[in-house]
Amino acid sequence: METSSIDPIIALKSDHEIVRSVLNNLEEYLKKIGRVSSEGLRNNLINQLNEITAFIDKDLEVHFKKEEDGLFPVLGKYIGTETGPIHVMLLEHKQSREISSEFKSKIKSYQTTKEFNSILNDGFAFFKLLSEHIDKEEQILFNMADMQLSQEEKHEIMQKFLSISSVSRET
Ligand SMILES: [Fe+2]
Ligand SMILES: [Fe+2]
Repeated sequence: METSSIDPIIALKSDHEIVRSVLNNLEEYLKKIGRVSSEGLRNNLINQLNEITAFIDKDLEVHFKKEEDGLFPVLGKYIGTETGPIHVMLLEHKQSREISSEFKSKIKSYQTTKEFNSILNDGFAFFKLLSEHIDKEEQILFNMADMQLSQEEKHEIMQKFLSISSVSRET
């Protein structure tokens, strides 16, 4: 199938599948960190968390950009962006970026402080926020998009997604 003909909502849902699998790993690592008694094992798990933050900074950021610069402006013509579901989703993207930046800085300082409880707090907060966020998008926002958007608008959004993805590959 030619990429530009894929429905943008299907493309976003397929991103969500990848995000869900990363969130599952995140939850598993966090639970293990709370359980292990050996510092070596804990170090390994903290390194795994570090890899997850690389995904958050790169792939999740591209996904957010597709929504913020591709879907939301076009769907916003029908349902508004200042209030309602798009407004809430934008707030949650902001909260997600704030929590993940805290999470990252605590992971960084772990090597000197060996403090992991605050890593767990931020990690679980991020897990909860983002899991609920993608559920809301799929249950509410994407259904609105399916009802409102014309084929031309879907095509326009898909073109925007492709340019966002190709810019991110260059950096
Ligand atoms: Fe989102
Ligand atoms: Fe999303």
